Amino acid sequence: MRLIIRDNKQEVANWIADYVVYKINTVVPALKEHFVLGLPTGSSPIPIYQRLIELYKADKVSFQNVITFNMDEYIGIPENHPQSYHSFMWKHLFNHIDIPENNVNIPNGNAIDLEFECAEYEEKIKRAGGIDLFIAGIGSDGHIAFNEPGSSLSSRTRIKLLTYDTIVANSRFFDNDVNKVPKMAITIGIATIMDAKEVIVIVTGYNKAHALDKIVEQGVNHIWTASMLQLHPHCIIVCDEESTMELKVGTVKYFKDIEIEMGKLPMFSYKKNMTYPDIER
Ligand code: GLP
Repeated sequence: MRLIIRDNKQEVANWIADYVVYKINTVVPALKEHFVLGLPTGSSPIPIYQRLIELYKADKVSFQNVITFNMDEYIGIPENHPQSYHSFMWKHLFNHIDIPENNVNIPNGNAIDLEFECAEYEEKIKRAGGIDLFIAGIGSDGHIAFNEPGSSLSSRTRIKLLTYDTIVANSRFFDNDVNKVPKMAITIGIATIMDAKEVIVIVTGYNKAHALDKIVEQGVNHIWTASMLQLHPHCIIVCDEESTMELKVGTVKYFKDIEIEMGKLPMFSYKKNMTYPDIER
């Protein structure tokens, strides 16, 4: 696991967006026809999407050969509900880039046969050749996608009941009314995420500090489901200073030292090839 610490949310978003663009541009078309990208919702990824839109508009990347799979979707609200993850993704990203509509995959929370929808979602990922890079966020209880505390660490796409914690946290998008928040969702599983070739997790804000400590410094367990990423061979957590407040000083220093040393190695100096003078911040 790599832990990359940046000064603030914007720097975190810029790092992740630049990395995604670098990956798309090196994988397509050199190595394979499509780049398969897993995407999250929530407030944390919004600045990543803004940066990706900027890079697209600056001709630094095209999404023509990108296939996306979203992590989850609510059950019980229409697709065109302003808070559905379908609406979220089109509003914050897809409407502003050149991705072909058919390349976008989001679980259908209104499917007549929800179990079939879940199984089919896993099949679709397989047919696309697997996820090259999954971007994920975490909840303040350490959940990833909607894999709530106690989820099976070998779970696949399925229907999940949301915990009261998550319902309260997400009520900020539903007029702060817990009664308006859907109680169920389709979510990819922990095993689905673990199958991705690479996983990048965005963690920002002081309210994620406790979760970050649990997933980085404590052991793998099914209560803090994102802790499973300790077993992923290529996981990068990109976080801001605020979210490191509960990590040990030694842990923060250790990961910062690694980044300094890695920056000196030619094989990790991909950043040097990524100059966007017009929009570099
Ligand atoms: C929801 C999503 C998660 C996301 C989490 C955190 O529960 N299902 O994928 O990581 O929200 O959202 P935020 O980034 O707003 O803190």
